[in-house]
Amino acid sequence: MTPKLANIIVIFAIVNIDNLIPDLMELKERKQIALLVGSLRKDSLNRKMARVLIDLTPDTMDLEIIEIGNLPLYNEDLEENTPREWAAFRKKIKEFDGIIFITPEYNRSTTAAMKNALDVGSRPYTHNVWSNKPSAVISVSMGAIGGFGANHHLRQSLMCLNAPVMAQPEMYIGGAADLFDEHGSLTDSRMEELVHKFFRAYSRWLCKFVE
Ligand SMILES: Cc1cc2nc3c(=O)[nH]c(=O)nc-3n(C[C@H](O)[C@H](O)[C@H](O)COP(=O)(O)O)c2cc1C
Repeated sequence: MTPKLANIIVIFAIVNIDNLIPDLMELKERKQIALLVGSLRKDSLNRKMARVLIDLTPDTMDLEIIEIGNLPLYNEDLEENTPREWAAFRKKIKEFDGIIFITPEYNRSTTAAMKNALDVGSRPYTHNVWSNKPSAVISVSMGAIGGFGANHHLRQSLMCLNAPVMAQPEMYIGGAADLFDEHGSLTDSRMEELVHKFFRAYSRWLCKFVE
């Protein structure tokens, strides 16, 4: 084990997913996947992880980060004259085949920015944009438990929003301060292999919901 990876904790799966994940290539067409990053910080580790995912995207998918920091805080009164940022966000999310949520842990939950994005997308009532979008949640934290609390709080809301969330593998990435070098690249190739496994599983998950 390299000294670096000793500091990085990836609680990836409680079952041997290698037996469960067939090849990537079952998707008939390239799928468009939105990446939502819960941190608004310029040097965000979660955003670095999102960029790593984009770099390692299999050729069955296109990944795009959709910004959430510009969304006004949800207030139902504003629906009378819907803020253009909300309207644009809702329209954009509808265009995607699936969503990958990448979140830090703030006080054992996801961030206010991420929750606000979920709330904005969930309304007006009966126009919930998250419904039936095959989703996955990744939590990235400097802490030792890999943002477990954030990951599951987010899953709780997604359940209510009728977004089918991939169960396994679970991606709780802890000790993330050591995960990236100064260029934002992964410091250990074994993490790269875990990302490939994640994509294999997520492709399989997409296949259950889209052609
Ligand atoms: C308001 C706040 C609350 C936090 N709460 C937690 C927490 O509950 N668990 C944890 O592991 N880290 C917590 N952290 C540390 C973040 O996980 C850490 O700052 C992380 O790097 C944030 O993600 P980012 O780098 O993508 O911005 C907290 C940070 C802030 C600013």
